[in-house]
Amino acid sequence: MHGGDEPGPDPARRPRLIVGITGASAPQLAVHLLTALRALGTVETHLVMSRAAHRTVELETGLRPADVAALCDVSHRRGDIAADIASGSCPTMGMAVVPCSMKTLAAIAHGYGDDLLTRAADVCLKERRRLVLATRETPLSLIHLRNMVAVTEAGAVVLPPVPAYYHRPASLDDLLAHVTGRILDQFGIEHGVFPRWQGPRDTTDSPTGGHV
Ligand SMILES: Cc1cc2nc3c(=O)[nH]c(=O)nc-3n(C[C@H](O)[C@H](O)[C@H](O)COP(=O)(O)O)c2cc1C
Repeated sequence: MHGGDEPGPDPARRPRLIVGITGASAPQLAVHLLTALRALGTVETHLVMSRAAHRTVELETGLRPADVAALCDVSHRRGDIAADIASGSCPTMGMAVVPCSMKTLAAIAHGYGDDLLTRAADVCLKERRRLVLATRETPLSLIHLRNMVAVTEAGAVVLPPVPAYYHRPASLDDLLAHVTGRILDQFGIEHGVFPRWQGPRDTTDSPTGGHV
């Protein structure tokens, strides 16, 4: 019920999805995800980038942070802890942190929301919304592994950006598309960014009988 002159919910408004980018290697993953979401046009994307992500974007993609921000609907300043997405009262589908550094993983695992990115992630956990962390580091220390267990116990999905090879990727874009698609799957966002496994085409000469 909406009383007086208060506007009701806008039925035409697309659901909001928060995308966080941290300073782990492979910001290309976030660029690919945001580009795919923009092409789909079915969700309203809210972006927050950490300070370190500004560096990795420049170093690893050659893009400017502003180029990445231009791919989303709303770009938030990481220091703006008064932004709408810092509050559980702002409805969202949840958040994907892509890629997620071990530092941000640690902050989320311990509820340490000292900037908008970690606060928004903390809000997703407390509101029991989807939080997907594309954690990127190798090898992993016991601290990293324990933090992954902690966020999983709190309801997050740890989704390391490990592509599959059944679709015989021929390019970096094919590898990125697989990770993008698996992240979109987590939020129930329909897409056709990668070919799904449909069983072996021909099992006659397979030593495993076609099983993988
Ligand atoms: C080129 C580059 C690559 C990096 N790759 C990783 C990585 O894959 N994983 C990681 O946890 N940290 C990585 N780091 C270190 C993080 O950027 C650093 O820990 C930073 O403090 C993370 O801050 P943030 O989580 O606020 O973005 C990398 C740093 C640079 C400059």
